Order: sequence, then C-alpha cells, then structure tokens
Amino acid sequence: MNIGIIGSGSMGTGIAQVAATAGHEVLIFDNNPAALETASTKLQKILNRLVEKGRLDDPQAKAIFGRIYFVDELSAYKDAGLVIEAIVEDLNAKKTVFGHLEKVVSETCILATNTSSLPVTAIAAACEKTTRVLGIHFFNPAPLMKLVEIIPAIQTNSAVVKNARKLIESWGKLVVKAKDTPGFIVNRVARPFYGEALRILEEGLADVPTIDWAMTEIGGFRMGPFQLMDYIGNDVNYTVTETVFKSFFYDPRYKPSFTQKRLAEAGRLGRKTGQGFYAYSENAQNPEPSKDRKLGEDIFWRILVLLINEAADALYLNVASRDDMDLAMTKGVNYPKGLLRWADERGIQNCVETMDRLHQEYLEDRYRCSPLLRKMAREGRKFYE
Ligand SMILES: NC(=O)c1ccc[n+]([C@@H]2O[C@H](COP(=O)([O-])OP(=O)(O)OC[C@H]3O[C@@H](n4cnc5c(N)ncnc54)[C@H](O)[C@@H]3O)[C@@H](O)[C@H]2O)c1
Repeated sequence: MNIGIIGSGSMGTGIAQVAATAGHEVLIFDNNPAALETASTKLQKILNRLVEKGRLDDPQAKAIFGRIYFVDELSAYKDAGLVIEAIVEDLNAKKTVFGHLEKVVSETCILATNTSSLPVTAIAAACEKTTRVLGIHFFNPAPLMKLVEIIPAIQTNSAVVKNARKLIESWGKLVVKAKDTPGFIVNRVARPFYGEALRILEEGLADVPTIDWAMTEIGGFRMGPFQLMDYIGNDVNYTVTETVFKSFFYDPRYKPSFTQKRLAEAGRLGRKTGQGFYAYSENAQNPEPSKDRKLGEDIFWRILVLLINEAADALYLNVASRDDMDLAMTKGVNYPKGLLRWADERGIQNCVETMDRLHQEYLEDRYRCSPLLRKMAREGRKFYE
C-alpha cells in the first residue's frame, strides 16, 4: 500500500520514516518546496546516524530512503491507501487540504489527520465522504515514540477505524483509541503535571528545582515539570494548555498560568533559546533544590492526585478505556505508572479526601473531585480488581 503524507515538518518527516521503514512506498508533499528539501536532508542524516549506530545496515537505510518520494503536487496521491496530514495546526488550512485531497484520491483511500488539538469531526466535515476520515495522532519524535492515538470522528465508519488500527500496529506502534474531545488522552490528562506545578510555584510553596526534584526523585518521573516545559518549549506548551482551556469552554481545571505566559512573551522558551525556567548557557548556574522530604512528598502527592483525578474523569466521560488510559500515559509521556493503577495503590478514598481538602481550601472548581472517584470510594472499588 502507498502512504501519502502532507506536510514535511518534524511530524510529517518522522511519520514518513516510520511508514517507509515498515516497507511502504511513501509520498510526501509540502506547499513550501524549501521545507521538502530540508526534510530530505534531515531524513538522510537520521538514516545515516542509524547506520553509524548499527541499528540499520547501509543497504537497508538506502532502501528506506529510496521508498520516500518528495512530490510537488497532490495529484500524485491517486493510488495511496492512506494519507496522513501533518501540516500547520490551523483548522481552515486543514479543511482546505482535505477538500482538495478528496478530489484526487481513490474511493477507498483512508484520510487521517495528525492534529494534536483540533476537532477531527470538524476536519472530516470538510469532506463529502466523511466516513473515511479519522485522527491518527503520533507523538514527537514519531520514529521513537511507541504510542499512537486513533481518534474516530463522529462520522467515521468503524471498518475504517479497524483497518487504520491494524495498519499502524503493523508499523510496531501501540495504538489507543480516544474520543474526539480536546487533547484526546495524553494532551488532556497530562495538563495538571504542568498546571499544578506552576500553581505551586506561583503560590510560593516551593521553587522550580524543588518541584522538579520532588517529581523526579520522589515521584519517579523521568523529567520534572519545569525541565519538561523547557524541553517542549514554553511557547508550545503554553499554547497547548490555552487551546485545551478554550476548547473546554474555559473550564478552570485547565486554566493556563501567567508565569508561563510571561516567560513565553519574554522569549524565554526553554532549551531552544538558552533560557526558560532554567538557564542553559555554558557555565550556567541553576539553584539547587531544597530536598526537604516532607515538602517533596506533599508536592508530589498534590500533582499526582490532580493527574489521577483527570484520568479518572476522562474515564468517567468515556474518552478512553481504563487500559488505554494507562497505556497512553506510560507510553506517550513515559509516566512511571499508569495513573489509574497508581490510584489503586494510593487508595481511591485517599484521592477523594485530598481533592476535597484542596477544594475546601481554595473554593475553586479547578479542584473538584471526579464523580467516578467519589462513587468508587463509596463502593470500596478499585480500577483493577
Ligand atoms: N510537533 C509536535 O510535537 C507534534 C506532535 C503531535 C502532533 N503534532 C501535529 O502535527 C502537525 C504538524 O506539526 P509539526 O510540528 O510537524 O509542524 P511543522 O511546523 O514542523 O511542519 C508543518 C509543515 O506543513 C507545511 N504546510 C503548511 N501548510 C501546508 C499546506 N496547506 N499544504 C502542505 N503543506 C503545508 C509547512 O510548510 C511545514 O513544512 C500539527 O497538526 C501538529 O499539531 C505535532
């Protein structure tokens, strides 16, 4: 089967590499010819590096690269079995592309969007045959990240979902299914990891290195929230939060932080600009964490309980199944444990009590306990029984 990719930025290039490595002929198109050239150079470099590291031999790398065709018009997609769109995150631009695409592909071609935050249903609505459109959401970098979220639009035919899933699994990916709601699974459930860390900082309960220390040393996360925000980029991370917040009709649970907004406005975007929450220049001196164990435990538990509450609420609202929820967070953002499993370990009753205590303290809807947690605590149930 031929695979078509539209948009040759970081995601389009990564997905092209994945599909070509799985043996497909891949066509990649970008409306900016310079972006296509950059993608070609980048792909070649990546494949060469894989050869140097001994992950591929030279003929394999050449064969993978030889299966990728950089094309300058969409009409080349007439024989594609699946087209994945990975252009700029703009609803109108995506709708226009889908409208054109539908006119050139075959009747049976599946059309997918890699959008992180736009409604798949609205993108599908740009097509006449809406039933063949779905979201296939890869994570960055696509060749390394195992997780892929599949998001049926409300119009999508179930056979299309099944076939897309089978194909993506055959590329060695772990697939989870998510409802077409803002942030799908990962970008929704992970919000408190950043948001509550920022809140703790703004309240002056602890400083940046102490919060990061609590989450890595005590919590077992690979990176602390501020290290991760600097890595992702404070501009990018802020925009995702703001988009999720607006898409949830301004639910205070997802309210963005002024601290991060100001950093983005100041151009302190993180690693990529040499300064974010931390300084990254050579010889930069960053403050040490306080390593107060009790404080660290409190910080870790407060962030964890908000994450658990978010996962439980997403489960309650049927965004994904229990197993997909835990798989998404362990494989999509490398959490040390699934949040629902963590809830069982920590005790559901304990989670409810902490959420209620925070709610009473702040009187903010941000800290409302999920009805599912409350019900389970009342019935003495666990997520994994
Ligand atoms: N970067 C990430 O971490 C990440 C992760 C998951 C999903 N996504 C999503 O994937 C998509 C692409 O993200 P990215 O980071 O690769 O973006 P990017 O900016 O690196 O690349 C986008 C590419 O699309 C091209 N383009 C723009 N409009 C086009 C059009 N009308 N037709 C053809 N090409 C067009 C641009 O020239 C550019 O090369 C977005 O929807 C984004 O939300 C991004």
